[in-house]
Amino acid sequence: MEKILIFDTTLRDGEQAPGAALNQKEKLEIAQALADLGADFIEAGFPVSSKGDFEAVKLVAKSVKGPGICGLARSIKKDIDASFDAVKFSKRPRIHVFLATSKIHMKYKLRKAEDEILRLAVDAVKYARKKCSDVEFSPEDASRSERNFLFRVVEEVIRAGASTVNIPDTVGYSQPQEYGSLIKAIKENVPNIGKAVISVHCHNDLGLGVANSLEAIRNGARQVECTVNGIGERAGNASLEEIVMAINTRNDFFANLKTNINRKEIYKVSRLVSKLTGFVIAPNKAIVGANAFRHESGIHQDGVLKERSTYEIIHPEDVGFTGVGIVLGKHSGRHAFSERLKALGFHLSQNQLEQAFERFKQIADKKKDIFDDDLRIIVEEEFRVTKPLWELDSFEVNSGTRITPVACVRLKHKGKIVSGQSVGDGPVDACFKAIDKIIGVKVKLDDYRLEAVTSGKDALGEVSLRLIFENKTFSGRGSSTDIIESSLRAYLEALNKIKAK
Ligand code: KIV
Ligand code: ZN
Repeated sequence: MEKILIFDTTLRDGEQAPGAALNQKEKLEIAQALADLGADFIEAGFPVSSKGDFEAVKLVAKSVKGPGICGLARSIKKDIDASFDAVKFSKRPRIHVFLATSKIHMKYKLRKAEDEILRLAVDAVKYARKKCSDVEFSPEDASRSERNFLFRVVEEVIRAGASTVNIPDTVGYSQPQEYGSLIKAIKENVPNIGKAVISVHCHNDLGLGVANSLEAIRNGARQVECTVNGIGERAGNASLEEIVMAINTRNDFFANLKTNINRKEIYKVSRLVSKLTGFVIAPNKAIVGANAFRHESGIHQDGVLKERSTYEIIHPEDVGFTGVGIVLGKHSGRHAFSERLKALGFHLSQNQLEQAFERFKQIADKKKDIFDDDLRIIVEEEFRVTKPLWELDSFEVNSGTRITPVACVRLKHKGKIVSGQSVGDGPVDACFKAIDKIIGVKVKLDDYRLEAVTSGKDALGEVSLRLIFENKTFSGRGSSTDIIESSLRAYLEALNKIKAK
């Protein structure tokens, strides 16, 4: 069996998605989950881009064992220095250097001719190699680069010491056959290609990120760069879970190829990334969407009951999806609660268990049946990574068809209760304005979504929203059987992130 290396860039390219900003602790939590998942490399960030990112990459390099930890760098000494200073704490540090090689980028963005680009790329790799034995080079926009020039660059950076050459489809322009043939051509035309691993990095602008990556693998690529849930710049990157499950499910087609991914962790990592980035997963998203394993039509249900393989090509349990059966209610005790959480993959300390159980009891008083998805939300919300500066104490709202909605909200802050009142265009708006009066930050509500976590009139409503503050986006999530309370919790979570920054 030949191994396909999984290079996860959720914390770098994924985090470049507008609104996906993660703080250091959140990055660390995701990195740990990626290590449990079995990712071979974690690109933890772009250290020179900000002090915060530098510290986050350093923290990941210091704390996360197993995968190689990588930091991105332009082909500039100060970037390479920052990248190495952050990743050097890992047992397996990697510097990822990039420089664009397409005519469009060289002419308009870099304003440099081919020979200069070649020299800069080689110098950067040599400089990085002096610091770190593992250097990856990416000719940015490789798929739109002139082929002979690309071959020259790849050959020279390998000679300079790059042990991985990544061929990005930076703007998601390629078609699968074309991209596969590019990888094949690199293998045939770069004399020293045997000394490096060919990596691929596909964007999803035409919805082809995964298809292009798979075709590249069939043509000799042995490392895939991808992100959990496919998050990333613009339309995102190729999705990790789709690539892994395609290789696994169609091992007849991808003969003799395997990844190291512990597939049972997929669903958990996907939820975690969604929760911390605030990016809601579309219900029809392959592998991890809420509907990915639901059979609605009578014919399909009948078929699955008779023989699963009639309509199921993946067992939900294989990716850690544990179903939606009724599990608990208000009479359930601590033991049943803790056993169910273990089955869902949550391992809590005694104190955490008590805290989660308290919240479970509050919800069970209002909601008859507590499903697995409800439990997940309860635990995820109780153990947010960001320590809240402001917490919801209580609220009252008066709203109706013939009155102006008015809200009074009370928050806990540093051991005190502070309250604010406001009218608004609706009850949620009135609550948000009341909070604005208390906290005093000026934010713009950029996105607001409400989803029922499970079915039934008493379902938990989960609100995901995005706020804009000083041109940066912050996300928040909250859930409750009361949708105004969910909204308040989500709003406060995003405001707490702003305050924490
Ligand atoms: O899409 C791209 O080209 C990149 C590079 C920095 C690898 O993200
Ligand atoms: Zn990219």
